[in-house]
Amino acid sequence: MTRHIVARVGEVPPGGRKRVAIAGREIALFRLEDAYFAIADRCPHEGASLCAGMLTGLAVSDGPGDYGLTREGEILRCPWHGWEFDIRSGRSWCDPDRLRVRSFPTSTAHGADLVRDAETFPVTVENDYVLVEIASADLHDAVVAGRRLLADRILLLELAHAGGGRLPDFLPGAHVDLHLGAGLVRPYSLCGEPMPDGHWRVAVLLEPASRGGSVAVHALRVGDGLRVGAPRANFGLVGGARAHCLIAGGIGITPLLGMAQRLARLGEAFTLHYCVRAEAAAAFLPELRQPGIAPSLRLHDASAGQRLDIEAALAAQPVAEVYVCGPARLLDAVAAAHARLGLPAARLHMERFNAAVAIGGAPFVVEAARSGLRLEVPADRSAAEVLVAAGIAVPLSCEQGLCGSCLTPVLAGEPEHRDSVLSPAEQAANRVVALCCSRARGTLVLDI
Ligand code: FES
Repeated sequence: MTRHIVARVGEVPPGGRKRVAIAGREIALFRLEDAYFAIADRCPHEGASLCAGMLTGLAVSDGPGDYGLTREGEILRCPWHGWEFDIRSGRSWCDPDRLRVRSFPTSTAHGADLVRDAETFPVTVENDYVLVEIASADLHDAVVAGRRLLADRILLLELAHAGGGRLPDFLPGAHVDLHLGAGLVRPYSLCGEPMPDGHWRVAVLLEPASRGGSVAVHALRVGDGLRVGAPRANFGLVGGARAHCLIAGGIGITPLLGMAQRLARLGEAFTLHYCVRAEAAAAFLPELRQPGIAPSLRLHDASAGQRLDIEAALAAQPVAEVYVCGPARLLDAVAAAHARLGLPAARLHMERFNAAVAIGGAPFVVEAARSGLRLEVPADRSAAEVLVAAGIAVPLSCEQGLCGSCLTPVLAGEPEHRDSVLSPAEQAANRVVALCCSRARGTLVLDI
């Protein structure tokens, strides 16, 4: 478990809520009667972000105990099916008997989901800061349960819990770190929706000229063991959207597959544009051609001259949340078209596979507050490299500012953000910094 600073005392008004993204998790922080509560800001059923305080003026009369522990404004509610959660305990009010009271009928692959509570996190207050404890660095022992080639150079691995249990559930679009031996850790998207048996699927494109992660994954055989991190939800569906536009380039289909499956299952309006250099290089086509997704699928096969007209695609769905994953040139083109059309930047969600991040710059100082160690970061090294060399553990994975593994709370100082994982608003807030790539002016004091 890792403690993260999420706010200063008093930053959350009494009775109010502050949303924070920390260690790849979205957390709703509440202050009630001068106590703080932290609860996962995602419905454990379908992953929608939750809205607060919906009890005002509604009848609460379906038997003893219904809503008896909540008061006005002290619940979180899922906008999709009406699941409600007590802010203090995370307790779900949506057991099958109560569904009829204030929620809509909910169907799910796992009946047990109907009574799942929301995740809550321990909160402490220290020295004017509010800290939330999150198991962001938890590792699990996994074993390769299956492997097969999906398409040209794309290997699909099925991973199972080595102890025979379930690997953790995840939201569509989530990532995990695979620990591939000799200190090599790389993030990959989890493919599809969670499987009933708790296995995970990961699809990896072999890129021999890259930094070694894909070669190590392709060398894995059935029965091989490896350690895996906890799923991180840096990229995922926005709840309550009127429409969704998914754009995948090549292996960028991996996080979008599960998002499309979930939208299809929920009957939400969406379009999935899948750009490939040739059909032989397209992964997951059988799943994408299932009846639920097929009407929304637009396959753009470059070898057949079918290029995606990005501006037309965006203009056709002007109110949609747009999710893009693929090569940098596709992401840049979508971002440019989105801006040209004057669409709200907050509705564009991008995930990069690699980033040409420049690590060098002017020297600065990092201070590791927990030990008091002050270290100079020279012009040609990253803060993470310097801290690790001094014996301070920094969780690293992509080392390109893409995955969020190395996000570290900032206590003082002015980071110069160079990552692609924080939103512009999160970067402006300067609450966390990606130590693998970002720099700073002067001295940066870190909660590490
Ligand atoms: S290691 Fe991935 S963002 Fe820094």
